[in-house]
Amino acid sequence: MGKLWQGRFSGSTAKNADTFNDSLPFDQKMWSEDITASVAHATMLGECGIISKEDEKAIVDGLSAIRADIESGKISEFSGAEDIHSFMENELVKRIGDAGKRLHTARSRNDQVATDFRLYARGAFDRLKSSLVVLTEALVKKAEENLDVIIPGYTHLRKAQPMCCGHFFNAYAEMFLRDIDRVRASRKRANVMPLGSGALAGTSYPIDRNLTCKLLGFDTPCENSIDGVSDRDFAAEFAFDCSLTMSHLSRLCEDMIIYSGGEFGFFEISDEYSTGSSIMPQKKNPDICELIRGKTGRAYGYLTDILTVLKGIPLAYDKDLQEDKEGFFDCEITTISSVEIMAEMLGAMTVNKKASDAAAEEDFSCATDVADYLAKKGVPFRTAHEITGAIVRYCIENNKTLQNMTTEEYRTFSDKFEPDITPSISAKACADSRNSYGGASEKSVKETILSIRSRLSEI
Ligand code: ARG
Repeated sequence: MGKLWQGRFSGSTAKNADTFNDSLPFDQKMWSEDITASVAHATMLGECGIISKEDEKAIVDGLSAIRADIESGKISEFSGAEDIHSFMENELVKRIGDAGKRLHTARSRNDQVATDFRLYARGAFDRLKSSLVVLTEALVKKAEENLDVIIPGYTHLRKAQPMCCGHFFNAYAEMFLRDIDRVRASRKRANVMPLGSGALAGTSYPIDRNLTCKLLGFDTPCENSIDGVSDRDFAAEFAFDCSLTMSHLSRLCEDMIIYSGGEFGFFEISDEYSTGSSIMPQKKNPDICELIRGKTGRAYGYLTDILTVLKGIPLAYDKDLQEDKEGFFDCEITTISSVEIMAEMLGAMTVNKKASDAAAEEDFSCATDVADYLAKKGVPFRTAHEITGAIVRYCIENNKTLQNMTTEEYRTFSDKFEPDITPSISAKACADSRNSYGGASEKSVKETILSIRSRLSEI
């Protein structure tokens, strides 16, 4: 069948121009949303007396039959049309004739595509949110499993202070909780209906936008028809939400790669989520983590892409806007599949308690606690810091650790030291002393786990 706009043209478009112009190869992904929106539109046209009840019924039945044929595989490929909207209309007219030609009354492809895309985006926000909930649950479970493990915390990737291992997992749970919150807020802004905006200026037909809005589950019809057909903020927000989630995932991947390496040995990524080398028999590589880290660029790519598409186009609809979709679909699959595989991989990984506990004792990671010991006995913190610095230097020069220094040795630096210095600076004691709200002690981490679970249950 011909193009929807054939009438004005005497010649046909060049083959390459068609291929360049067509969006059917990718916008067919919205076939279901296109049918849903058209059913609502036809129902409204019938209710408002703009088309007859018979035509309304023929259109709704025709579209339902097309849906059934796609779902059953009877229609297995979409071709022979410019885009999914033209494909559906052609198919409908083929089946029901003139009634089908009435579907596009009081509608333009401009408000149609904006509506379809928002319906699709709404689903994408929901899918992303569900995957993030599963991931956050997996993290908090890992935190709970490893409450009795101490790991060294790092700054500048140098050992800093010991902490309850659960604290590490909970940190990422907090990031993904914020992501969930962001996705919900974005979804709310996206859930506004452009349908009824027409080409750009509304329509002279007595349409009922509140009815289509209700039928399609939008919160409200858009207030300005020009904005309605040209606004793609929701796509840019989706790109940003995905980008930040990918950034959080990428950091987690980097930590997992480092902590599971031989030099650290705190984490073991299970065999199911590791790969080997074709030449080096000993290798167990963290490919999944590296792939997620690498795929982060694709989400950032779409964010740059959509912002650039939007930045200079005049109101209202311009064909540039057709460039909003391919990146969106890629961004969605990339982000959700990354979130899902991370949740699985976390579920299967283990923490090596022996290596983590031992590493937390090493490299003077309890030095802050030595300084705090003195400060709590009245030594000004800055002086205590200096004394402890000298103790660390002494240990390095004499091949000692903070834990195996004798009380007598400690007392050569300050007479405030008593025999309780040694037990108070074990890694476990140091971690557990950080009992402040949101701190790294086992007690604080347990409280945070409860808080994360309660926030998850409110979603
Ligand atoms: N395929 C188009 C898109 O994705 C549909 C809108 C076409 N509108 C137009 N005036 N050419 O944006």
